[in-house]
Amino acid sequence: MSEYLPGLEGVPATKSNISDLDGKRGILTYRGYRIADLARCSSFEETAMLLLDGRLPTRKELTEFDHQLRDNRRVKYNIREMMKYLPETGHPMEMLQSAIAALSMFYPGDECLTGSDVCEDLNYVHNMSVKILARMATIVAMWEHLRNGYDPIEPRRDLTYAENLLYMFNGEDPDPDYARIMDACLILHAEHTINASTFAALVAGSTLASPYLVIAAAVGTLAGPLHGGANQKVVQMLREIGSPDRVEAWLDEQLEHKRKIWGFGHREYKVKDPRATILQNMMMELMEKRGGEVTPLFEIALALEKAAEQRLGAKGVYPNVDFYSGLLYLQMGIPEDQFTSIFAVARCAGWLAHWREQLKDNRIFRPTQVYTGEQERDYVPIDQR
Ligand code: COA
Repeated sequence: MSEYLPGLEGVPATKSNISDLDGKRGILTYRGYRIADLARCSSFEETAMLLLDGRLPTRKELTEFDHQLRDNRRVKYNIREMMKYLPETGHPMEMLQSAIAALSMFYPGDECLTGSDVCEDLNYVHNMSVKILARMATIVAMWEHLRNGYDPIEPRRDLTYAENLLYMFNGEDPDPDYARIMDACLILHAEHTINASTFAALVAGSTLASPYLVIAAAVGTLAGPLHGGANQKVVQMLREIGSPDRVEAWLDEQLEHKRKIWGFGHREYKVKDPRATILQNMMMELMEKRGGEVTPLFEIALALEKAAEQRLGAKGVYPNVDFYSGLLYLQMGIPEDQFTSIFAVARCAGWLAHWREQLKDNRIFRPTQVYTGEQERDYVPIDQR
């Protein structure tokens, strides 16, 4: 009998050369490039290309890819019509999964993988990646207006990916500081080895499902609070704590009841997630630039990190990527329940890169199980039970 490892801890699910992490030293690289360097020097468009193609693009290649993304930002009117009928009380991640899945109906034809030869068709894979990546941001921002009873704001072709995302949310030319921060946030969230949602994408991709359905599977998996949904929970938690002087008592009570501290802990990292450090520093720099006054929620977060280190540090439980990201999104006017959708927009680049990698050498995922039920027995007619 094979050994069963809950949560597949330590079990390699695939071979990949897309990203790598060292959980003891807190290092994350995409295609060998350190995440801090990418967040500082790259753009989301360039990072997406790096993930998809495996190398940094030339200026010409990047311009071409960027134009393709800009050309594909708009979605069909009927998608908007469909979205209008979804309940505005639904969670944006539920909407996103529905809308992305529906895209494969609205854009039929070559969107369906039909045979193994398609796996070799890099043009198809590239075109699908561009279409999906470009449209994710539009759908997420459209929902913000539709659910409030307004027409969505049309995407603009003259803006970068991050600028356009902010513009479609707020309807204003984005503040350059916020645009840069959003760009870095998208880079930081774009990829992270074989996490739960990427694994879901791989499993769906291995069946040769349409790439829209592959991304829909990943979106649904990211939504949970143990994964991407934690960023929304963090801000709710900080509000619940209320003030820095309440942190220690609140934390002790949570830990006593064995409750989760949102935005803390990671299967792979046993030190602070390097993305959390970068996000925290970006928040700090933003506060300094805006007059030096720290927001009350950020103050609580800093106090919580300190108190948690004393209590959870020995277990290797430290802030993860979701701990500080929401505080930055709040500054940019992103509603709390859209934090995970922004995460999904960014992670879409990584999902698509893994989809492409999976197709190159595809074999359907079909793991085994350790059966714990009854062995063969006789059927009992209903009157004799
Ligand atoms: N709050 C309190 N304790 C935590 C914790 C948290 N957020 N994360 C881990 N721990 C503790 C566990 O209680 C466990 O303690 P024990 O050994 O005394 O039982 C130990 O650390 C190991 O945790 P475990 O649940 O086995 O880790 P995992 O690898 O299965 O789960 C997460 C990883 C991310 C799901 C988990 O850390 C978590 O739920 N975090 C909060 C949700 C979150 O922020 N998710 C975003 C991840 S990027």
